[in-house]
Amino acid sequence: MKISVVGTGYVGLVVGACLAENGHEVICVDKDEAKVRALQKGKIPIYEPGLEELVKRNRVEKRLSFTTTLPRAVRQTQIIFIAVGTPEAEDGSADLQHVLGVARDVARAMNGYKVIVDKSTVPVGTAEKVREVIRRETTHPFSVVSNPEFLKQGAAVNDFLKPDRVVIGAEDPRGAELMKELYAPFTRTGAPIMVMDCASAELCKYAANAMLATRISFMNEVARVCDLYGANVDEVRRAIASDTRIGSAFLFPGVGYGGSCFPKDVKAILKFAKDKGYDFKILDAVEDVNQAQKNVLVEKIQKHFGSLKGKTLAVWGLAFKPRTDDMREAPAITIINSLLKAGAKVQAYDPEATETARRVLGNKITYTKKSYDALTGADGLALVTEWNEFREPDYARMKKLMRQPVVFDGRNIYSPAQMKAQGFTYFSIGR
Ligand SMILES: NC(=O)c1ccc[n+]([C@@H]2O[C@H](COP(=O)([O-])OP(=O)(O)OC[C@H]3O[C@@H](n4cnc5c(N)ncnc54)[C@H](O)[C@@H]3O)[C@@H](O)[C@H]2O)c1
Repeated sequence: MKISVVGTGYVGLVVGACLAENGHEVICVDKDEAKVRALQKGKIPIYEPGLEELVKRNRVEKRLSFTTTLPRAVRQTQIIFIAVGTPEAEDGSADLQHVLGVARDVARAMNGYKVIVDKSTVPVGTAEKVREVIRRETTHPFSVVSNPEFLKQGAAVNDFLKPDRVVIGAEDPRGAELMKELYAPFTRTGAPIMVMDCASAELCKYAANAMLATRISFMNEVARVCDLYGANVDEVRRAIASDTRIGSAFLFPGVGYGGSCFPKDVKAILKFAKDKGYDFKILDAVEDVNQAQKNVLVEKIQKHFGSLKGKTLAVWGLAFKPRTDDMREAPAITIINSLLKAGAKVQAYDPEATETARRVLGNKITYTKKSYDALTGADGLALVTEWNEFREPDYARMKKLMRQPVVFDGRNIYSPAQMKAQGFTYFSIGR
């Protein structure tokens, strides 16, 4: 099939590359000229494991191309994915200006039947708004389909190629059938393609993210209580995770969730529930707990040192999670700003997010090219993102480099017993 994907960010580029990998002819459209120029030369603007290889191969095979010109892409293709950003607006709602702007531009360029697919995460009722915008601009026939994306940054390619399920919201059979055909190769292993009305499809994405965020905040509160009573959250987690009604995923306490999705999606569902007069109380609490959790590590650091004036803290991990260079809403930002405000100096290392961090934090902190360089002369290490390379460090080398062997582990990746045996003063979350 011939497909356009509008928006070549963390979602659009993965969608485009994976569809091309399955033999489709894909044109990726973005308004960011620099990004498109780079992609046309085979340079990937983001870090996402496995993506570069996919983009290069499909570009060479001429199944994947990049442009800033939307109308030509629309005329040459039948299915048009909208994968632009839906950032948080001032009132907490999802800002739809990019989605609706693209819908309008697509409509103006239509030259026959098209399927317009909402891939961006959008509030309930958006498919109807997209439909209205298009109807105003064209007399050509079209279907609007809601197709929320569940991929995880850091494992996005694999998630798209082997989805747990595909959700399709459609109001007419023609659009639904084309989408089922498109996704058939990705669901051969038996993953279901679920066709439903657009409102339900739109809500699926928010309900999924809100549930995951709730599990995280819930476990962060359990960890707080563990800290108060000297219980071990690892033991508690393992015990409750073995209950098949609960399961083991997303039960790890830490420094709070971040990223481009959970924070804004939780706020958006709160807002669109409130718009209909419903107060989604649990999610209010989930958000509050998460904000507070971003400061838990700094509270532990301050409690240990008393004053942070003149202290140097090493920070390992800046990205909002491992295997991405994305720092949108990353807990590291809150943690580092609090450390700086308290008078500390920060030396940070991240395997992939240093360039992003320079844009976000500027030269307020020092960035190192190697993990151990961040430890030189440090009074303590704050582990903020659980990249694999931090899991089995050379403890003797760490101690030699640090002024004081103190580790604040925001992701519970080290064993308290082992840290003690290695001679570290060690703090973690709920243990
Ligand atoms: N990042 C994730 O893990 C993830 C997962 C599932 C769903 N989503 C949702 O997918 C959507 C996109 O997220 P993302 O992380 O890829 O965002 P992103 O910011 O990485 O990418 C968005 C891209 O859209 C482009 N763009 C904006 N307006 C445009 C326009 N008018 N024409 C052409 N291009 C335009 C931007 O230049 C940018 O490259 C959001 O709604 C998000 O909530 C994200």
